[in-house]
Amino acid sequence: MSTQLENETQELLGKVVQDFTGAIATRMCAIGIDLGLFVDLAEYGASTSQEIAERKSYQERYVREWVYGTHKVGYLNFDKETRKASLSKAAINVLVSKGEKFSQQGAFKLINNMMLPYDELLSSFKEGGGVNFEDYRSGLWEGLDLTGCTRYRSFLVTDWTDKIPEITKKLEKGVAFADFGCGTGRSSIELAKKYPNSKYFGFDVFPPNIEKARKNSIERGVSDICHFQVWDAKSGAPGKFDIVAAFDLIHDLPHPGEGIQAIKNAMKEDGLFLLMDIKCTEDPIDNEGPMTAFKFGASLHFCMTTSLANNGEGMGTVGLPKSKVEELCAAAGFKNVKEIEINHPLNSLFVIQ
Ligand SMILES: C[S@@+](CC[C@H](N)C(=O)[O-])C[C@H]1O[C@@H](n2cnc3c(N)ncnc32)[C@H](O)[C@@H]1O
Repeated sequence: MSTQLENETQELLGKVVQDFTGAIATRMCAIGIDLGLFVDLAEYGASTSQEIAERKSYQERYVREWVYGTHKVGYLNFDKETRKASLSKAAINVLVSKGEKFSQQGAFKLINNMMLPYDELLSSFKEGGGVNFEDYRSGLWEGLDLTGCTRYRSFLVTDWTDKIPEITKKLEKGVAFADFGCGTGRSSIELAKKYPNSKYFGFDVFPPNIEKARKNSIERGVSDICHFQVWDAKSGAPGKFDIVAAFDLIHDLPHPGEGIQAIKNAMKEDGLFLLMDIKCTEDPIDNEGPMTAFKFGASLHFCMTTSLANNGEGMGTVGLPKSKVEELCAAAGFKNVKEIEINHPLNSLFVIQ
């Protein structure tokens, strides 16, 4: 082997080790979130594995190994003298807070759970088709709920809609707002909290999401102005609304063009279409930046794959660049697509007339 090849191979091995660490770190954090270990540490402060295990009624040996591992991947402090683990304030912001700007509980749950139906994914490579919504554990949907909570509470209504007065004026005045592919309802719910003169109608194909959306709206005190209903994009428009929205829906749909047409048909004459999807480049291979691997991973493990499971086109997470938005919107009869600058690594936002 030449020296140069040996050096390059050695360098790649360094990356392999880093990637192993990343995979283990994700799993350690998912365990800490799912079992309430981070919340416990945030509540009680520095603790030994024995103290955590007693409070949570878990097996101490498991907790101890988790503490060591989670410390080594950089998410827990550990004091060798007292054998106590603790969380920094920054770690509390990231791992314990919910719905705040830095909260990442949902992302850890999402990544961990989207990778669980592994045999089904491998079979799809060989036989076609994909993985169905029902094949994922409920943790995936809880992860989506939590990421939605953060995105809509700490970005959509605190920053993004402020950039779109044509939308906020209507919402302030009081209009009918339809949220297609609403998931667990977080977008409608946060808008309802901020603009209570309007009425919100959320639609989603997955019944457990609709059930959770109803519960979320009760918990947030806006159930009187939020209504959620099971709906499949292929069934066409469920009514007529002043503002129609699709948050993170279109690229997931088996047939995105059909979905945009249904949304267009659900819009009143002078209505507006608010479209949020995944920020991406024209050619998938040109995507760069820290969220790029996540986007392709999410595509393979969920977005593309669930679309293909339903005989869909498998657009994929990075399949809706601006030109594709314009093409699908023009085909559906929309006239004007305006991109709103939100400077976000994951999402893009459009107002369409
Ligand atoms: C990535 S999630 C986004 C959920 C929510 N809008 C959010 O941002 O948190 C995509 C949603 O689209 C829904 N969906 C997928 N295919 C659909 C279809 N054919 N008709 C209606 N909803 C669909 C899924 O059930 C899921 O809740």
